[in-house]
This record gives sequence, structure tokens and C-alpha cells, in this order.
Amino acid sequence: MQYKLGIIGAGKIGEAILAGSLSKGLLTPSDVILSVRTEQHRKNLEDKYNVTAVLRNREVARQSEIILIAVKPRTIFEVLQEIADVISDESVVVSTVAGVTLDSMQTKLARKVSLIRTMPNLGVLVGEGMTALAPARFTEESKIQIVKQLFESVGRALVLDEQYMDAVTGLSGSGPAYVYLIIEALTDGGVKMGLPREVSIELAAQTVLGAAKTVLVTGEHPAKLKDQVTTPAGSTIDGLMELEDGGLRVTLIKAVVKATERANKLLQK
Ligand SMILES: NC(=O)c1ccc[n+]([C@@H]2O[C@H](COP(=O)([O-])OP(=O)(O)OC[C@H]3O[C@@H](n4cnc5c(N)ncnc54)[C@H](OP(=O)(O)O)[C@@H]3O)[C@@H](O)[C@H]2O)c1
Repeated sequence: MQYKLGIIGAGKIGEAILAGSLSKGLLTPSDVILSVRTEQHRKNLEDKYNVTAVLRNREVARQSEIILIAVKPRTIFEVLQEIADVISDESVVVSTVAGVTLDSMQTKLARKVSLIRTMPNLGVLVGEGMTALAPARFTEESKIQIVKQLFESVGRALVLDEQYMDAVTGLSGSGPAYVYLIIEALTDGGVKMGLPREVSIELAAQTVLGAAKTVLVTGEHPAKLKDQVTTPAGSTIDGLMELEDGGLRVTLIKAVVKATERANKLLQK
């Protein structure tokens, strides 16, 4: 189905979705209109992607069937208020903004509009994002599927009830940062044992990528895969013992718990 995609706020997330949907052939440049705040950024995006880029959010909202809002949390309510009266009844408003509920968006729009709250992650920059979509109750299934397909152009996407969005934020939303820390630490381990840093970082990053892919492709429980690489009296079990001793497992669980709790209060200072 052909539709017009409007992106309000084409920063890291908005631009990644634009780039992904164009490179996968899901959309062509004439299917997209976007808005940003500064003239220099507007011109850069227009030159880079050959799309219509403007500084007027109302124009984007007026022309689009899918209105993707990817501005910072402090700005979303101002944007919703600005565009509320020009959104067509057939359009769907999609937010990537962390911590902003469907109810609060609906209240700001002051009318019934199809809405989908999403939580992507930084993997969208390289086509390996993980996005959860929480639609408002009355949003049509056909619209949900179109938006899901849009996010699938930059990775995986799944539809969940909104009650899970804080936990999604604490796990996959914040997750890339946890994994960067793990990659950095593994790299330092390699350096400590004499590997050149560039070699060590490649070994660490590709190992994380391969391990993640094995879980997704085989569908096996991670514990079973771990057992497969752990030879009796081998070196891996010694490494695992150190990780257990250092509390890696409980530390990661607690990281997700804390980030989830914070996600619930993001709009509070
Ligand atoms: N980054 C992540 O990993 C991540 C993950 C999940 C969810 N999110 C959510 O996604 C949203 C966007 O994050 P981001 O990292 O992409 O932010 P970002 O890189 O700072 O991009 C924000 C964009 O919004 C534009 N903007 C600011 N005010 C505007 C306005 N009034 N009207 C139109 N455009 C406006 C900015 O334009 P100028 O450049 O011209 O100022 C910029 O292009 C956030 O709400 C965040 O919570 C981010």
C-alpha cells in the first residue's frame, strides 16, 4: 500500500527510519515529507535523501497518512498541540518518544486520533533495531501492520500492550548501552592479555553479534547454547565462574529493573 510518511523530528531515530525505508525500497523520496527545527539540518536532509524537508510541522501533518513524531520528550506535547487540528481522520500518529503514554498524547490532541506508541533502539541506525509498538485500542489493524512494516525496514518489530513499554525501554531501549559496556570490557580483557586494541574490539563485537544471532536464528534457550560451548574442565567454565562470582547475571537484571523504573518517570525532573 502506498502512503505518505511524514517525519516530525528527523534526528538519529527519525533519519534512521527514513534511510531504512528508502534503502529497502519500502518508500521512494516522493513518499516522504519531514520537518526539523533548524534550516541547516533541513537542507542537509533534503540534499542527502532528495525528500521534501520543511520547517513547518503542520505542513507535514496535513500531507501525511503516517505521522511519525521523533522529537525529544520535552517537545512532543508542543508538537501535538501544533498539529492537532490538521491531522486527517484517516491518518495515524506514531510516537518514538520515550515515557510518553498514549493517554497523554490523546489528551493533548483533544480528539480521537489513531495512535501508536513505539520504543525503537539505536540498532535502527544499522538496520538491526528492535522496536516494540503499542497501539491505542481503536487503532485499526491495517494501520498497525503498515507501521510495523515501516519499523521492520530497520530491524525487528513486535506489537505489545502498552503496559510493557517501560520494561521494553529498560531492556531493549537502553540495552545497546549495556552491551557497549560489555564489549568495551571484553576488549579491555583482550588488551590486558596482550591483544592489540583494534583486534580485541573486533573479536569482542563480532562475538556479541554472533552470539545474539545464534539465539535468534536457532530459537534455542541461551543456557543450552552456553552449555554447548562449555567443555568439561575447559577454559570457558573458568571464565563463567568469574562472571558468576562478579555477579554479572544479577547486575544485568538490576540494570533492567532500575532503567524500567526510571522509564516510568522520564518526564519528571
Ligand atoms: N536515540 C535513541 O536511542 C532512542 C531510542 C528510543 C527512543 N528514542 C526517542 O526518540 C526521540 C528522538 O530521539 P533522537 O535520539 O532521534 O533525538 P535527536 O537526534 O535529538 O533528534 C531530534 C530531532 O527533533 C528535531 N526537532 C526538535 N524540535 C523540533 C520541533 N519543534 N519540530 C520539529 N522537529 C524538531 C531536531 O531538529 P534539529 O536537528 O533541526 O534541531 C532533531 O532533528 C526521543 O524522544 C527519544 O526519547 C530515542
